[in-house]
Amino acid sequence: MSSFKIAVFVSGNGSNLQSLIDTKKISNEHSLDIAVVFSNNKDALALKRAEKNNIPFFTLDPNEFNSREDFDEAIIDKLKIFDFNLLVLAGYMRILSEKFIEEYENKIINLHPSLLPKYPGLNTHEKIIKNKEIYHGATVHFVDSGLDTGQIIGFSKFEVKNYDLELLEQKVHELEHKLLPLICSLIKNGEIKFIDRSLTISGQNYINGKEFIF
Ligand code: GAR
Repeated sequence: MSSFKIAVFVSGNGSNLQSLIDTKKISNEHSLDIAVVFSNNKDALALKRAEKNNIPFFTLDPNEFNSREDFDEAIIDKLKIFDFNLLVLAGYMRILSEKFIEEYENKIINLHPSLLPKYPGLNTHEKIIKNKEIYHGATVHFVDSGLDTGQIIGFSKFEVKNYDLELLEQKVHELEHKLLPLICSLIKNGEIKFIDRSLTISGQNYINGKEFIF
């Protein structure tokens, strides 16, 4: 494989996919090559973003498969023709089967809109409001077979001043659009290593991930 490439899984708007695409406009050091985009939702705006940027993409409809395993098996099959080093879940709203995770062991990262391990799963902004949390943010972690439980790589947080759903979502997105491309480029440049369940970032060990301050 000549250069570092990523595969990106999306389900909706794809603003985070866009932030990965836009690394091309910044510096070579941080620019990311996207080999392929996959979506479980044929109507995802994210696919239009891929198309506009001449990035190969494909979709599969989970309703046409008997089980999660069969669906994921079909994705694995389709992915075989693409070369990539890292698989990025950027707003992919499906749980992956164990088989899929084993296939790409330690090569899948997920972006999650909360400060994990707090608030795995859905509706994180609503939960922040309900519990009047002081901090909110975004986390990028390696994917294991649990729900948002894999090794945390990095997170970024802010102090909540206004318990408004739209504002919280907007603020989290702002952080995500910096955090995800940065972590991908650190992985690309060999700065992030995850060996024998031990995470190293730029030579330093981290147990619960590194805080990134923007
Ligand atoms: C992002 O906020 C991401 O953290 C979240 O979906 C949003 C996608 O936005 N992911 C999850 O909730 C995964 N469980 P986008 O489509 O505009 O990138």
